[in-house]
Formats: sequence, structure tokens, C-alpha cells
Amino acid sequence: VLPKVYVTRQVPQDGLDILRKSGQVQFEMWDSDDPVPRNELLKKVKGCDGILCVLTEKIDAELLDAAGPNLKVISTMSVGFDHLSLEELKKRKICVGYTPDVLTDAVAELTVALLLTTARRLIEATHEAKTGGWGTWRTQWLCGYELANSTVGILGLGRIGVAIAERLKPFKVKKFIYTDVTPRPELADMIQAEYVSFDEVAKQSDFLAVCCALTPETQAICNKNLFTKMKKNSIFINTSRGGVVNQEDLYEALSTGQIAGAGLDVTTPEPLPTNHPLFTLKNCVILPHIASASYTTRNAMSALAANNLLAGLRGEPMPKELKL
Ligand code: GLV
Ligand code: GLV
Repeated sequence: VLPKVYVTRQVPQDGLDILRKSGQVQFEMWDSDDPVPRNELLKKVKGCDGILCVLTEKIDAELLDAAGPNLKVISTMSVGFDHLSLEELKKRKICVGYTPDVLTDAVAELTVALLLTTARRLIEATHEAKTGGWGTWRTQWLCGYELANSTVGILGLGRIGVAIAERLKPFKVKKFIYTDVTPRPELADMIQAEYVSFDEVAKQSDFLAVCCALTPETQAICNKNLFTKMKKNSIFINTSRGGVVNQEDLYEALSTGQIAGAGLDVTTPEPLPTNHPLFTLKNCVILPHIASASYTTRNAMSALAANNLLAGLRGEPMPKELKL
């Protein structure tokens, strides 16, 4: 009999076509754009050989127990893996596929868009234009910050950080700096970025872009300690995971003018409740986790997730396997 697979969400067509045409699996899908309820998920995965999931599903001991001993492969349609209990997966010798690279361009584009939107106050500006605040042209009204001659800092240099810097360079950025657990010379050389300490990236950056994975080591590293060292005219951008930020400290930094603005594509929790204090701040731009959301990229992510799954079920190396 064919391996049994559960797909936890409606995924874009390319991935579905790959699974269907393979003839290698029998799969069932949660046929909705909303997450599968947890109790339903726990029932559906029972006896599965593979699971194709998205980032809203916690893949933890409870779920792996519910799936049972047949489970060989988890394939997540995401580059982030903080929703996966890696220890549990490793212990059970389950292989894990994810979707780096195919989303790098889309995420980098969105990060640049969010940076410019935040720095040049575009959301405030459209609001003023629509609601009568546009009394006349004024010399200092809605002034923001420009990239020309600026220092851009990257917290966690990977493929995405490099892609962001490549796109920002034509805006005449003066200097790229980055911090990480260790220097990454092969990546840094591509963008002539200088390795500096965590404190220095905070102190020197006019724009600070967070591009690290969320892990126990990066949990809430963007906190009071970081924000108090940043320049008063600096802009903080996060397109990685909300968990890297202490949001109370960020609120404090934004509301007291410790930093000039923040652009967030990710928050804790998601969705961020509409009555959250961060939504009251004009200098905070919040997007609903859409960095990889282009048609092309979401299709590519679903195709890669399907190919990872099929390779894993065949016992072959996955196109993109997460090393556990
Ligand atoms: C999106 O956040 C992803 O991890 O792919
Ligand atoms: C994340 O995937 C990164 O490469 O920075």
C-alpha cells in the first residue's frame, strides 16, 4: 500500500499537482485556508507516514505520539522551523524538510518595502491624505529617514540578509554591518559587510534588520538592552519571527522616542490582537506575516515542500533537508 500523508492546509496548486501526479502517496488534506483545529489534526495524523504542514501547526511530542511509529517525514512549507520540536524529531529519527532559498527574493523585497514604508512614514502619510490632515505643503511635515549615507545593520546574516543588502546597496547605503554568533565571511564578502559585536550593531545602525531564525538562543534578543543602545533616529525592522523581540520593551522604545520607528511583519502572538498597544503607535508599521506572500513564491514553496516529502518517504535525500 502507498504511504499515507496528511496535508494540514490547502496549499498552492503546484505542490498538490506534484503529490497527485507522483502516484507515490495517498494523501488527505485539510481543505481550508484556515488552520485545522488541533483535536482534528491529532486524529488525522494517526498512522501517517508523512505530514506536510505549515507554520501554524505545532509539531511536538503530543502530535508525534498521536501520529505513531509509521511517521518518517515532516515537510514544512516554511523556512522557519520554530514550530517544530527538533529534539523530539531527532530522537524519533524523523527527517525534516523545509523551504529555504525559494522565498529569499520575495522576503527580501518585502523587507525593503517595509523598511521604506516605515522610514518614510507612508502609512501615516496616506492616512493624512485621506482624512483631511493634508492642509498644505509643509516644510517639516511627515519627514522621515533616508537610506543614502546610512549604516544598515543585519542581525543574523544568512541568505535573506544578503539578499536584503544587495537590494539596499543601490540606495547608496554607506556601510553594511552585521552580527551573528560567529562571523560569516563567505556571505559577508558578497555584500562587503563588516562583522561587529551585538552592542556595536545596536549602536551604529541607522536601520537594523532582524534576519535570524527563532531558536532558544535568539528568543527575545531584541529587548531593552538592544533598544537602549540604538540611535534615536534609527529604524528597527523584523521579518523573521515575533519571538526574537520583547514587545513590551519595543513598545517602550517606540513610545518614548528611544528609537524612531519599527516595521514588523511578525509578532507575538499572530494574529496580534487589534487592541494591542503597538497598534496605537504611529511609528510602528505592522504587517500580517506576508513576507513570502507572492504567487510565484508560495507556489514554489508548496512544490518544494511536496518534493521534500516525496524524497523523504522514498528514503532519499530531500532537496532541502533541515539538519537536526
Ligand atoms: C515564513 O515565515 C516562513 O518561515 O517561511
Ligand atoms: C534565513 O533563512 C536566512 O537564511 O537568513
